[in-house]
Parts: sequence; structure tokens; C-alpha cells
Amino acid sequence: MTMNSIKTAGRVRKAVFPVAGSGTRFLPATKAMPKEMLPVVDKPLIQYAVEEAAAAGIEMMIFVTGRNKRAIEDHFDRNPELEMLLQASGKQQLLDALLTATPKGINFVFVRQPEPLGLGHAVLCAQPVVGDEPFAVILADDLIDAQPGVTAQLVQSYERHGASVLAVEDVPLEDTAKYGIVATEALPGADASEERVTLFVEKPRPEDAPSTLAVVGRYVLRPEVFAELARTQRGRGNEIQLTDAIARRVPQGEVIVHRFSGTRFDCGSKAGWLDANVALGRRQGLIY
Ligand code: UTP
Repeated sequence: MTMNSIKTAGRVRKAVFPVAGSGTRFLPATKAMPKEMLPVVDKPLIQYAVEEAAAAGIEMMIFVTGRNKRAIEDHFDRNPELEMLLQASGKQQLLDALLTATPKGINFVFVRQPEPLGLGHAVLCAQPVVGDEPFAVILADDLIDAQPGVTAQLVQSYERHGASVLAVEDVPLEDTAKYGIVATEALPGADASEERVTLFVEKPRPEDAPSTLAVVGRYVLRPEVFAELARTQRGRGNEIQLTDAIARRVPQGEVIVHRFSGTRFDCGSKAGWLDANVALGRRQGLIY
């Protein structure tokens, strides 16, 4: 099948936020609190992610949650007592900041992943809500500072080519074992940021890596990936890997990459989270 013959399956209206992982790298901070609620400056990681999705035109935010994730549901709910308190004390700016978490016209849906069986399994848990349409997947612990946001960049690529789109960036060769790594070829009619995937390997050792082009935590996926996920066996780490399911759509020419413009902070790691706080804190004039 050529790229031109791939039928687009409609507009991207829904985003899936897998937030059911255990966040072990941040223990003890994440013992009772989800990692996605870690603040960068004054906003939780998950709110940056939701704002990025809303800016890309996403109307339904679907969270795949697990144990200890109630704080996320509460964060995206109204808090009338606090709102009244801020109103009564004339703290309008804080009240506005509180209300930005729940923009009008956006639906928040929560789905439970009963066991943390991997990112691929988490995405599959969202299938009944996503249905037969393209959708974004956003991993909130990859905070990406970009204008326009990376999800909007991927949605544009999806609309141009009708293929699943993976956000990628070059990483140092010694880091390939932390990422899904792709080999690519030129994509007809694409701009310089887009290429077609020819091979997708999960966490290869540097000596086995087909390139240094790494997939980061942003995807726009065609719904066919659900059928692939449903028959994906547990792979690396005894988890159902999203990479394995996407890799099965590669031979059909259905997967492309978008080299995003922006700065990524790996906030799943302590160093990346600290970097993000310093960079965004500096921008806000809080530190020099
Ligand atoms: P990670 O492996 O980075 O997250 O999964 P983790 O397990 O929470 O963190 P560490 O490594 O123990 O510190 C990538 C993303 O997939 C989600 C996580 O919440 C994270 O956003 N995930 C992972 C699930 O939703 N379910 C799973 O079963 C596994």
C-alpha cells in the first residue's frame, strides 16, 4: 500500500494519557502521589500535557489510571470551596490559575488499567472510549517546551499524510537502549521534518541500533493499532509494548516520524525534572 492510498480516518479529537505506571524512579515522592502530579514550577506535569492537547484541538482527554491516581481526577475536577475562598479574598489571579485546569468544552474521561501490564496495554484500555478514529497518545513525563506544541505539530503531519506519526529526536548513541529507535527513508511530498519508518526497534543496544533517531512520548495513531495491540504478546520486561504493535504497521508503510521542533525534558528522571524546573523558572524570572 502506498502512502497516498491510505485513507485518513477523520480528525484527531481524542488524546490518551497513560498515567498508570508505578513511577519507581521518583520514590519516595511517588509512593502515594502519581508521578504525573509532580509540579514543574507551579503546574503538574499532567496539566502541561492537557494544555498541549487542548492547543492541538483535542476535545476529549482520556486518562488511563491505576492505583494511587485519584489526585489526577481531583485535579481536573472543580473545587467549589477553594474557588469561593479565593473569590471572597479577592485573589482573582489564583482563581484564574485554578480554572485553567478545566477549560470549557473539554471532556475528561477516566479509564482504569487494572494491572500495570505496560504502555501498550494501557493504550488498549482506552479503546472502548477512542473507538474507530485516530487519536493522540501523550506521555506527560516527557515535558516538551515548543511553540506550536508537539501534539499540534503531529496532528498537522497526520492530516497531511494520513499515517500514524511518531515524534522523534536524535539522541546520543550511548542512550539508544532507553528508547524505541527507528530507521527511516524519504517520504514523498513530505517536508524536511517528516520521514517514513522502515524499521522500529525497542531499546536496542548501541551496537544494534539502526540509527540514533529516538521516539519520544508523543504519538498520533491510526485506530488499526488497537487490533495489533490486542494480539501483542508480552514482550520486553513482561509488558505489552506499544512499540511492538506500531512496528507491525510499518511494513504497510503506515508509520511516519516527525522531527519535532522544541526542547524535551525527560521528567521521568530526576535530572530531567530538575532541568525543566530551572529552565521554566528562569523564563518566569524566578531564578537567574
Ligand atoms: P514508564 O516506564 O516511564 O513509567 O512508562 P513508570 O513505570 O511509571 O516509571 P518508572 O520507570 O517506574 O519510574 C511510560 C508511560 O507509560 C505509563 C506510565 O504512566 C508512563 O506515562 N504506563 C506504563 C502505564 O500507564 N501503564 C503501564 O502498565 C506502564
